[in-house]
Amino acid sequence: MKFKKLITVVVGALAIPFAAIAGEDSQLTVEGQLMVTSVAAPAHMENVDEIFSGWVFRKDETQALQMDDFDNPAFIFIDKAIDTFSKVEGTVGKACVSCHESPEVFKGLRASMPRINSSGELETIPELVNGCRTERMGAEKWKWSGGDMAGIIGLIGLQSRGMTVNVAIDGAASSAWDKGKDLYYTRVGQLNMSCANCHEDNYGNMIRADHLSMGQINGFPTYRLKNAKLNTIHGRFKGCMKNIRATPYKEGGDEFKALELYVASRSNGLTIETPSVRN
Ligand code: HEC
Ligand code: HEC
Repeated sequence: MKFKKLITVVVGALAIPFAAIAGEDSQLTVEGQLMVTSVAAPAHMENVDEIFSGWVFRKDETQALQMDDFDNPAFIFIDKAIDTFSKVEGTVGKACVSCHESPEVFKGLRASMPRINSSGELETIPELVNGCRTERMGAEKWKWSGGDMAGIIGLIGLQSRGMTVNVAIDGAASSAWDKGKDLYYTRVGQLNMSCANCHEDNYGNMIRADHLSMGQINGFPTYRLKNAKLNTIHGRFKGCMKNIRATPYKEGGDEFKALELYVASRSNGLTIETPSVRN
């Protein structure tokens, strides 16, 4: 219960006002392209007026790594994924490139995902990729948060960098969205906390040595200095649930997919920053 004690102590006593450290003025330009790191919150958010990219909350050194693709360690994995894209695998004898001329054909996709497909199901990018692997290539599924998958979704996401997040939440998406919202506000685990307790009630405050962000996913997959690899959205959700001593939902399962839709909709208006760099 060491963590709980620290939350009360650190968030309670040492809370530093957001504006004091976050550098609201700092701007993120990547390869000459200006990103939207703060903007008016989408209308569906009742408790927040302005939304911020996770980049805003990071230390100067970490911020700098995301500003230049040459310095951004995520590109080691993106480069690998470019090779994977042309690699023939499976019984059909095809590579991604056999059917998709280049990764650039996926421009725009990341900014509107997850989405409802023609069968009325919520679908995510890893599922689209694995669908092609199993049904069109005769190849094995990739593990949700494995290196191959994280690399490919990083490469696909990069094609939408700088585009505005615009995830649909109405119509057929509304029931999954409601479910995701419910999960976001439900307290779980031994620490009895919800996502909102940290990422809505306490963003801008310090927790242990970490500066709490709004828990946005517009930069995913993200390179973390902590584990020196690309981290997926569901992988991150899992980590946060473990930190509050809750049993995490399954990566790729209905709960995390619904939560992904809801969290993505909380960043409508920010720009896609894939691949971002975090601590
Ligand atoms: C045998 C042909 C074939 C191969 C090989 C293939 N795909 Fe596909 N893929 C398709 C078709 C057909 C679709 C559905 C139509 C479309 O969106 O292009 C699709 C759709 C997709 C989509 C969704 C695109 C969108 O805008 O909705 C993604 C992402 C994708 N494929 C990624 C991959 C990746 C990554 C690989 C390699 C691991 C791969 N595909 C291999 C044929 C293929
Ligand atoms: C006890 C506080 C706490 C709770 C509860 C919590 N998180 Fe986090 N989360 C953190 C910390 C600390 C970080 C790392 C610093 C940051 O980006 O906020 C983080 C990071 C994240 C990030 C990465 C943000 C980025 O910009 O890279 C996402 C996404 C996220 N959390 C989602 C969630 C979701 C979804 C839940 C609920 C299932 C949740 N978190 C619950 C503390 C928490």
